[in-house]
Amino acid sequence: MAATAPPALRRIDDLPCPPGLPLLGNARQITPSRFHATLEGWARQYGPLYRFRMLGESVMVINDHRLLGELLRDRPEGLARSRTLRLTADELGANGVFSAEGERWRNQRKLVMRALTPEAVRHFFPTMERMTGRLLQRWQEALDAGRQPLVARDLKAWAMDIVMALSFGADSNVLQSDDDPLQRDVELMFTMIGRRMVLPVRYWNWLKLPIDREADRMVGRITERVQGFIAQSRSRLAANPALRERPSNMLEAMVVARDEAGSGFTDEDVIGNAITLVFAGEDTAATTLGWLLYFLSTHPDATAQARAEADAVLGSAPMAERFDRLGGLNYIEAAAMEAMRIKPVAPLAGFEVLRDRVIGDVSVPAGSRVFGLMRSAGLDDAHFPDAQRFDPQRWLASSPAEHTSRPEGLESQGRKIFPFGAGPRLCPGRYLALCEIRMATSMIVKNFELSFEDDPSSVEEIFALTMNPSHLPVRLARRGAA
Ligand code: HEM
Repeated sequence: MAATAPPALRRIDDLPCPPGLPLLGNARQITPSRFHATLEGWARQYGPLYRFRMLGESVMVINDHRLLGELLRDRPEGLARSRTLRLTADELGANGVFSAEGERWRNQRKLVMRALTPEAVRHFFPTMERMTGRLLQRWQEALDAGRQPLVARDLKAWAMDIVMALSFGADSNVLQSDDDPLQRDVELMFTMIGRRMVLPVRYWNWLKLPIDREADRMVGRITERVQGFIAQSRSRLAANPALRERPSNMLEAMVVARDEAGSGFTDEDVIGNAITLVFAGEDTAATTLGWLLYFLSTHPDATAQARAEADAVLGSAPMAERFDRLGGLNYIEAAAMEAMRIKPVAPLAGFEVLRDRVIGDVSVPAGSRVFGLMRSAGLDDAHFPDAQRFDPQRWLASSPAEHTSRPEGLESQGRKIFPFGAGPRLCPGRYLALCEIRMATSMIVKNFELSFEDDPSSVEEIFALTMNPSHLPVRLARRGAA
């Protein structure tokens, strides 16, 4: 009997596609700040594999967590970050481990990983504690003076202080300097990367608008500031050559690597990675905390449970005073996982396929652009019953035995969602980020009552490289105050 022929593969151009205009394709239907929502809407209409067209090119979209998981694991050989991201990161001076590929990525990744191990984060805990103490004090003082703290702004400043202290060994105290230019510049960098990744024409190569000229100045300012940190690292290394064997922070490690003969590591690599760490570590952690506070302030039951946990673990202390306390805050981490399931900071990722391959039943040639919708399973009732409901308990009920004192313990159930990516490029900062979230959230629920000042449904998702809430009217009151 003749063997059945395998089903014929589809080509990208055979995939369903939303109707568009002859030359522009679907470009006019895409607004940068709603890019993820538009692609998710099309996925509901056209299925897990579809395409859209941008100026004559078909771009494939994948809304299937299994296929995405496979793809993400095939890096760096089979899949690269999108060309647009790489070009944009390069022109904005942020060309580091996030946008590097191949051997260059491998070298940089090793250095970054070393600085973010659980051991390194544990050593760093006293600094994190001091910085969280400053946040607590700032918010208490504001409330005592009758002012509402600027929660979203302060969380970003706090996260920036933490990432700069860990990476550069510097206490910038952005939190208490009310208008730090670095914070504004990093925000502008985010806006510019988000904008330039989505615009169909790279017009700024020919004509610079005021915003592009401001971006050039921003790159100059950030580079100058980072060069200052590098000079400080060099002075420390000169004063204490033993540091070359055991660098005390990531920047020192990068400077040492730069100085090794044949390392292939350049001054630009050091600067690019320093900038990368600030933008990868600040906005992501602060935005995740922002979404978590959005959910907690609109779900009093969950806040009560988080508070009961914080009371039990922290005792009479206003915040975690020892690293091992963080291990007991599992409900809080479950709440964070739930916030990241519904509102991940990276709901969308763009890639370039590096070798001919088959994705599902589609033959995809090398060089193709693909987008992955990262919360496909997270918002699917088949994977998470009543998926729109914020319910931290779902991360705890299934496998209580796993929820020991390991801060990463709750992640085992998270294989269907990718809040930190997956595969060899899984976020190297996730252990630090989860510790930051446990630290800040326990301090907040221990000391403050939360309420939400607006209709929760008025908060929109705004995509600007990461997905931010349009506004965050979380109101704080001192706990126990009448
Ligand atoms: C809640 C906070 C955070 C979230 C949700 C987050 C999320 C992500 C995601 C989705 C990726 C892409 C992973 C992939 O391609 O598979 C990533 C990569 C990365 N993250 Fe994070 N991140 C967070 C915090 C941090 C922190 C605190 C740092 C460092 C201080 C950091 C440093 C990085 C770096 C360097 C990469 C690039 C890794 C590579 O390409 O090899 N992240 N992160």
